[in-house]
This record gives sequence, C-alpha cells and structure tokens, in this order.
Amino acid sequence: MKPVRRVTVGISGASGAAIAVELLRMLATLGIDRYVIVSQGAERTIGLELGVAARCEIRGLATTEFDHADLAAPVASGSFAVDAMIVAPCSMRSLATIAYGTGEGLLARAADVTLKERRPLVLVAREAPLHEGHLEAMLKVTRMGAIVSPPVPPFYCGLQSLDDMIHQIAARALATAGIDPGDFLRRWEGSD
Ligand SMILES: Cc1cc2nc3c(=O)[nH]c(=O)nc-3n(C[C@H](O)[C@H](O)[C@H](O)COP(=O)(O)O)c2cc1C
Repeated sequence: MKPVRRVTVGISGASGAAIAVELLRMLATLGIDRYVIVSQGAERTIGLELGVAARCEIRGLATTEFDHADLAAPVASGSFAVDAMIVAPCSMRSLATIAYGTGEGLLARAADVTLKERRPLVLVAREAPLHEGHLEAMLKVTRMGAIVSPPVPPFYCGLQSLDDMIHQIAARALATAGIDPGDFLRRWEGSD
C-alpha cells in the first residue's frame, strides 16, 4: 500500500455529519494532511445534527479548509498532489453533481479532478430508500472510477454504541480509500 500523505475530505449535506468529524480525527491522528471542503448543505446539517462546537472542531481539524465557492483553490487542479478524496457524508445532490458534472462548487470540482487523475474517490453516500435516479447516479460514478460506500453499520463486529458505529464507518471509509486505518478498524477474524 503506497503511503498516503494528503487527503481531500468533502463534507456534504447528507445526514451523518458525525462521520466527517470522526474521519478527520482519524486522519489527524494518522498524520495525514486534510484538505476540507464543506458544502452549504453541510453547513446546515452540521449545525442541526452536531451544533456550533462541531463546526469549529472541523475547522480546527483541517490542515486547510477551502471555501466551497473557491474554484481557484489548489484542490481544484489535478496538478495539486493529493492522494485520495473522501466525501463523507455524501448527499444525493453531491453524488448527482459528481456523476453528471452538472454543478458548480469546489466539492464537485475536486471530485472530478480526483477521477480524472485516476485517484481513489470514496463517496459515503447516504439516503434511504433509493429511487432509480439515485441508483443510476451511483452506477455512473462507479463506472467513472469512484467507489460508492454507504455508511452501513458493520453489525458483525460487536458494535457497543452509536459512537462505536460511527468510528467503524469512518475507519472503513479510510480503508476503502487505500489508507491504512491501523487499529481504528476492527476486522472480522472468523468466528472461532
Ligand atoms: C437534517 C437534514 C438531513 C438531510 N439528510 C440527507 C441525506 O441523508 N441524504 C441526502 O441526500 N440529503 C439529505 N438532506 C438534504 C441535503 O442537505 C440537500 O439536498 C442539500 O441541497 C445537499 O446539498 P450539498 O450536496 O451541496 O450539500 C438533508 C437535509 C437536512 C436538513
């Protein structure tokens, strides 16, 4: 596994802002640089689900946070060396914007750049139930090279609490992006 040093983290307005916070904490502990983009939708969900303190924590955990409207930010260019991008949580709006290239905004641009540079792009896409349009967008981004990895709880690994579940979902997103999560990820070792 090639060592990962720099990761772009897109936070969009799907439910599950706590996953983003946990992901950033883990990346910080692992000593990986964090380039953060928070969508307008996420500004709202972070506030509603976690409160103002969490928004401050996200800002503090970022190596650099870029304005969602700043299309001149380094992560908008493939020449800026980032190893991978994770969008967590990923709304259906952001998913579709990435899939169809219809939207403006730095999050979608950075994701597009990640795909064109053939770097890992993991979308922790959260919605339920899913209609045909959601599924089509998931298929489209998958064919383009992204990995759609919904925040599905790993019930098999003895989850102890909601925090534990969020922790495991975040660790799995790291592993899926090619980042060694070390002891953060509890792995299935068989039933014996
Ligand atoms: C509390 C709350 C929870 C939401 N949860 C979801 C969700 O799980 N999935 C989703 O696709 N959209 C969800 N939305 C709607 C998105 O925030 C909305 O579509 C927004 O425009 C997404 O824009 P963005 O992708 O630019 O963040 C939620 C909105 C709120 C206020």
